[in-house]
Amino acid sequence: RIKVAKIAVAGTGYVGLVAGVCFAEVGHQVTCVDIDENKVELMKSGISPIYEAGLEELMQKNYAAGRLEYTTDYKSAYHEADAIFIGVGTPEQPDGSANLSYIATVARQIAETIEKDCLVVVKSTVPVGTNDKVEQFIHDFLPREGEKLTGNGDGVGRNIRVEVASNPEFLAQGTAVRDTLQAARIIIGTESKWAEDILMKIYEPFNIPIVSVQRRSAEMIKYASNDFLALKISYMNDIANLCELVGADIGDVARGMSFDERIGSKFLNAGIGYGGSCFPKDTKALEYLARQNGYELKTVKAAIDVNTDQKIVLYRKASKRLITFNGLKVAVLGLTFKPGTDDLREAASLENVPLLLDHGAEIYAFDPVGKSNFSKKYPEGRNGNGSIKYVENIKEALEGANVCFIFTEWGEIRETTPEVYKELMRTPLVYDGRNLYGVQDMREAGVEYYSIGR
Ligand code: UDX
Repeated sequence: RIKVAKIAVAGTGYVGLVAGVCFAEVGHQVTCVDIDENKVELMKSGISPIYEAGLEELMQKNYAAGRLEYTTDYKSAYHEADAIFIGVGTPEQPDGSANLSYIATVARQIAETIEKDCLVVVKSTVPVGTNDKVEQFIHDFLPREGEKLTGNGDGVGRNIRVEVASNPEFLAQGTAVRDTLQAARIIIGTESKWAEDILMKIYEPFNIPIVSVQRRSAEMIKYASNDFLALKISYMNDIANLCELVGADIGDVARGMSFDERIGSKFLNAGIGYGGSCFPKDTKALEYLARQNGYELKTVKAAIDVNTDQKIVLYRKASKRLITFNGLKVAVLGLTFKPGTDDLREAASLENVPLLLDHGAEIYAFDPVGKSNFSKKYPEGRNGNGSIKYVENIKEALEGANVCFIFTEWGEIRETTPEVYKELMRTPLVYDGRNLYGVQDMREAGVEYYSIGR
């Protein structure tokens, strides 16, 4: 039997909600806090505000079991908690730094509300050193001895212990629940045995290796891990571009590399650059942190530069091949930054679609789930010099098209055979940012085919 902890989670985005649900799933008593009443009502009725496989089932199951609650009332949630996890966003600012105002708001609410010893655990990705400041911030806002509390408190002595721990999150969208319940490791960064013990107990039922380090190292592990993966992708994209010039095939090159265990077989796929909410933001944030400290982080800078160019590599190729996009029917297959999510953040489609529209393309876009988010930015109909129409299936997008771009490797796109392009398109000309087809297979089907690094 586990020792049940009372846990409050601030923020019900990807990080907060998934963490909260998983804590409940292993047996803890969890209250998820969000300022958005509609969202809270939605979650109470068993609906997840984010698109994530397996999440709703666990939400419903644990809610029914009484282990999981949702509220906008942060006061009641915080003042009973043994540990408060912060999972609010830290959006990127124009200079690459992280916006910490959401964290600061929660930190202040915590200070003004808690009534007993409590560990505050930051899950959000924050620049190295931030959690020292969060701890100081909370202490600064703790009511003084005898001072009347603004929360539900009684105004008695403030001899309570509050510490901040770092507990970075490594989940990927689309596999968030599995990534959390079966994580490769759990990183905890604490400055005292007391804090370390609390987190150890909370994570014990997960049965996953725990790496316990100091707070700043924990913060750095998150960035160093994400940026390493971003570097790996950019490196493969860089090599892919060179492969094209010298007549090598990146698929074969990657396969050959993958057998070396020091390199590993994952994250070797060249493509149209990395997107999403983490790699683009975390590479820029670390580069910014280095600059702030008078250091030039050349490797990460290179990863960022390669990625920026890579996102429009296909557009560049197509621009050379065609006189103009003006009036052409352009099929766009895939809008999200990767399959299994409706998230568009930093997706290659967001770089390419505006370029195509600028040049007068008539776009027919297909994405199994990304269309509603994308149409908020680019409403159906005329857009600048071109137009965009969202279609329900691949066939509709390809019918009569002059050129096709593939930006996301959704299963239904992968399953579309070369013959379908040949049959349906007016001119079977395909630019594939995900290397979904064999070069030879496309050629044999009579499709003029361009991909990455082959
Ligand atoms: C990532 C990390 O995987 C996760 O550990 C971290 O906590 C948050 O960031 P996520 O952004 O959800 O997760 O997706 P991921 O599957 O890692 O893909 C990120 C981007 O890299 C996608 O645009 C994907 O298409 C691209 N990618 C990934 C490649 O281009 N090549 C690869 O080999 C792998």
